[in-house]
Amino acid sequence: MILLKNGKNSKNEYMSLLIKGSKIDKIFRQKEEVDYIKDGIQVIELNGKLILPGIIDPHTHMRDPGFTMKEDFIAGSRACAKGGITTFIDMPNTNPPTVTHESLLQKKILAKQKSIVNYGFHFGGSRSGNVNEIKKVVKNKLASSVKIFLNVSTGDMLVEDNEILNNIFENSELVLVHAENEMIDKAAELAKKYKKKLYVCHISSKNEMERVIKYKKDSINNGYKIYAEVTPHHLFMNESNMVESEKSKKLLRMKPELKTRVDNEYLWNALINGYIDAIGTDHAPHLLEEKEKSTVFGIPGVETSLALMIDAYNKNKISINLIEKLMSTNIAKIFKLKNKGILEVGFDADITVVDTDYKWTVKNEHIESKCGWSPFENYELKGKNYMTIVNGSIVYIDGKFDMTVKGDDINEQRL
Ligand code: DOR
Ligand code: ZN
Ligand code: ZN
Repeated sequence: MILLKNGKNSKNEYMSLLIKGSKIDKIFRQKEEVDYIKDGIQVIELNGKLILPGIIDPHTHMRDPGFTMKEDFIAGSRACAKGGITTFIDMPNTNPPTVTHESLLQKKILAKQKSIVNYGFHFGGSRSGNVNEIKKVVKNKLASSVKIFLNVSTGDMLVEDNEILNNIFENSELVLVHAENEMIDKAAELAKKYKKKLYVCHISSKNEMERVIKYKKDSINNGYKIYAEVTPHHLFMNESNMVESEKSKKLLRMKPELKTRVDNEYLWNALINGYIDAIGTDHAPHLLEEKEKSTVFGIPGVETSLALMIDAYNKNKISINLIEKLMSTNIAKIFKLKNKGILEVGFDADITVVDTDYKWTVKNEHIESKCGWSPFENYELKGKNYMTIVNGSIVYIDGKFDMTVKGDDINEQRL
């Protein structure tokens, strides 16, 4: 048993929490209630640190299998643990791409062996059509969603054929899209036609956000649903960061590309006004050599996402309560993760403890991801993950990892 003693919750109220096995066993609202507890328990004094339900990252590219020089489930899950992420959901543009039942099962085996945090998978819609595979995976609830690329990006997964697109929507429950600009309209129309749930990844601009807000309003009476995701980089960065040096021009290439300060502000307003459902990092590591040599799209993000948001809280841009929703509670609901996303007795002990006052500077030499760099290098942040607990085990605390911890497949638990 572990007692997290003298912390506070997202509403700034006193909280101590007892973990038994892999579950939250008791929650204490008053300091006096825990002072007597001693015997046979590992007590961790938190001195007022913030206790959050484990952060869930719904959008990562862990590159395993196929591109493990960039990232793999060992380094990627260490990076998650360090950043405070207790569950990641991985994208299908690996090699082989996750577009067959068989390749999904292979990926599950790799993650089971390697990941120190919980994990799940988005299944891919393939450009040549794989509806029978989709049916198998959806029926057995083996993946969190079906993901399709409606614009060109890393990998060869662009789906253009209209009949294939219709088939995918018809046979999925929840469709994730990489859709920029007018491709958002195309995706929303298909969601409406088949009355399905649509999740728009990494909304990057005012233009895209306006489209999504329009469909959010339209969806209310039309039997479909549309969720909006933003990345930290589209909130905190814009084109002006790219002109800082020749190097940053190459490093900061991604899909969707960074936009303008006006777009940052529009996205922040949408977020504060409740139009955004989730923050996902789009953790897409590439090696520095690859980024410098040619144009490859993507930047890593799992080690900095929570700290960036806590820093924004310290600058009065967002409440902790909203951070908790966007980075855990809502994501557990959207992807139907049972017993996650809330600190409640009987729920999984996936817990992230944050030191909201800790000042630090992002440095490439401290990055755990195999890519070894961060687009936020030299950012000075106030707020950092202190401890990450996965299924009741402390996998990371104050710079130290326990690599013997193994994560669970969130898509298995749903069976
Ligand atoms: O910048 C990106 N990188 N956007 C994507 O959609 C894919 C990702 C990757 O896998 O590298
Ligand atoms: Zn994408
Ligand atoms: Zn992505």
